[in-house]
Amino acid sequence: MSTPTLKIENLHVAIEGKEIVKGFNLEINGGEIHAVMGPNGTGKSTLASALMGHPKYEITEGTVLFEGQDLLEMEVDERARAGLFLAMQYPSEISGVTNADFLRTAINARREEGDEIPLMKFIKTLDKKMETLDMGEEFAQRYLNEGFSGGEKKRNEILQLMMLEPKLAVLDEIDSGLDIDALKVVAKGVNEMRSPHFGCLIITHYQRMLNYIKPDKVHVMMQGRIVKSGGPELAERLEAEGYDGLKKELGIEDETVNQEA
Ligand SMILES: Nc1ncnc2c1ncn2[C@@H]1O[C@H](COP(=O)(O)OP(=O)(O)O)[C@@H](O)[C@H]1O
Ligand SMILES: [Mg+2]
Repeated sequence: MSTPTLKIENLHVAIEGKEIVKGFNLEINGGEIHAVMGPNGTGKSTLASALMGHPKYEITEGTVLFEGQDLLEMEVDERARAGLFLAMQYPSEISGVTNADFLRTAINARREEGDEIPLMKFIKTLDKKMETLDMGEEFAQRYLNEGFSGGEKKRNEILQLMMLEPKLAVLDEIDSGLDIDALKVVAKGVNEMRSPHFGCLIITHYQRMLNYIKPDKVHVMMQGRIVKSGGPELAERLEAEGYDGLKKELGIEDETVNQEA
């Protein structure tokens, strides 16, 4: 057996003292695409941010191994250099830094000193990937995400994914705010990445993305942990029944919103 790409065991994450992720377990082996689905507020984005090492998210219990290494001991930039990638639900804008410069810097930061990507090779690759994503040439020279529409930001996240070629990508709500054409384009980008060396965790509220990117496994997250796992048929069931059917079956009560607030 080879080492799993990602192995999360009994992960607990708190924000400002409040536990949000409560005993999360997941194992992704090389080349697998997993989907984590769940209602809003169940801790999906918290999980993603914790994996990337966002300082606001406190790991109170559990372990995360990335290719056998203790991920939680690694600094944020180390995680990125080790091949972890996060496409954020709300990508940030950086004024004054062009998309192309940002990408080249990010690629080179992941390479050894003296082994920087040759400029021509970079431009060629960028052109090709942008074409795949139906992005106009002008996007290379625009400031990072500044003035981008919601859909353009999501495409741009996938452009980063395709340029950086991580070993594992966590895509948080990459489908939100996309019309059907943009959704297909985003899915095409992710599908093009598929290989035995690329694992992917797709976090989504809706099933529709999974019509275009077929996951190997689907997990339902509620109240901070996985409550059910299955194949693509589980996502289809959720689409048909919503989350309520599953809640009833599993005897999960709705949480009182903002009890402590
Ligand atoms: N930065 C934060 N500060 C305080 N509370 C937060 C923060 N981020 C998330 N939360 C709370 O954690 C819970 C889970 O949020 P989130 O992980 O964004 O859920 P999901 O992505 O599943 O919709 C929510 O109750 C949310 O209000
Ligand atoms: Mg979220």
